[in-house]
Amino acid sequence: MTTLTNSGSTKPSLTILGLETSCDETAASVVRRDEDGRVEVLSSIVGTQFEQHAPFGGVVPEIAARAHVEAIDDVVAEAMRAAGIDFEALDGVAATAGPGLVGGVMVGLAFGKAVALARDLPLVAVNHLEGHAVSARLGADIPYPFLLLLVSGGHCQLLEVAGVGACTRLGTTIDDAAGEAFDKIAKSLGLPYPGGPALETLAASGDPTKFDLPRALLGRKDCDFSFSGLKTAAARLAEKVTSQTERADLAAAVQFAIARQLSERTDRAMKLYAAGHPGQALRFVVAGGVAANGAVKAALRRNCDDNGFSFDAPPLAYCTDNAAMIALAGAERLAAGVSDDLDAVARPRWPLDEAAALSNPSNSFGRKGAKA
Ligand code: KG4
Ligand code: ZN
Repeated sequence: MTTLTNSGSTKPSLTILGLETSCDETAASVVRRDEDGRVEVLSSIVGTQFEQHAPFGGVVPEIAARAHVEAIDDVVAEAMRAAGIDFEALDGVAATAGPGLVGGVMVGLAFGKAVALARDLPLVAVNHLEGHAVSARLGADIPYPFLLLLVSGGHCQLLEVAGVGACTRLGTTIDDAAGEAFDKIAKSLGLPYPGGPALETLAASGDPTKFDLPRALLGRKDCDFSFSGLKTAAARLAEKVTSQTERADLAAAVQFAIARQLSERTDRAMKLYAAGHPGQALRFVVAGGVAANGAVKAALRRNCDDNGFSFDAPPLAYCTDNAAMIALAGAERLAAGVSDDLDAVARPRWPLDEAAALSNPSNSFGRKGAKA
């Protein structure tokens, strides 16, 4: 249970039920945000589907959607029980409405609409990425604005966050997300799904200097990322390694290469951000599943020291997908007087900075498009 003060709020206390079903976690949480902006996580329940997806080495959308349908009643009931409140005590419902696997998103959003309708509560259709953007505020008082590195299984972007719903994108991946690279390389090393944490464990006993991996987009002046070259190179090497020592060395080299790229682009973004905020406090936040990685965090802390930024990351439980971050994003929106109609639609693609995504879709064709 966390209580903290997020500066600058004068709105009434709000108790919000949050729902998250955009990928392979069925999650529900109750968060209270009081009139001073203090945040208290009353409960946060995350039901994972690892076992259902593990045989396939990745998330299977149809299996995920069915698993959400089967789990959501119990997960919500448990979140309400753990919070020690009943539905009468709620002031609103916040459900992820995208981006993500649309079958799963529809399950959580429909559930949220049903609760809102039945209990006559306002609904907030939350952008999952906005949830990650506020997630560090579940564990510390971090006033806006801040520079955000959102680095997860589906997303890798640098954003200037001026407030809830006010994000400007500084850079994004032109191919894979960092977490996707972790997962796919882990798979080629024969590690179990989800690969990121397993790769980090294997890397702990490895020597990152034993393999030389490609350094993408060197010399580019923007803040974009690319991980597909690294993924291909590492997959080729993974076919050749034989001993456990070599596997650990390759895992360490991969982790080092991913952390290095995240750090190089973040350094550039910090310089841009600092130039745009003269005389102001410089705050940096890393969020998303990959923010759980120790080597990545250590590299980003060095960026902060070099550039005069404060460093924050969400508590580990709120790095990967959870519903507390969705409830908090909903609470912040409701406190600002923003809610959604019951005909809000599930959006498989929903960039945080829509203008940037439309004007410069880093990869406009295929599966990704302007998703992130
Ligand atoms: O935020 P998240 O739960 O889901 C998305 O919104 O995508 O992030 C999941 C991603 C996965 O790719 C997972 O492998 C990665 O975060 N991840 C990690 C670690 N823990 C989770 N990657 C590297 N090291 C970790 N310790
Ligand atoms: Zn996520």
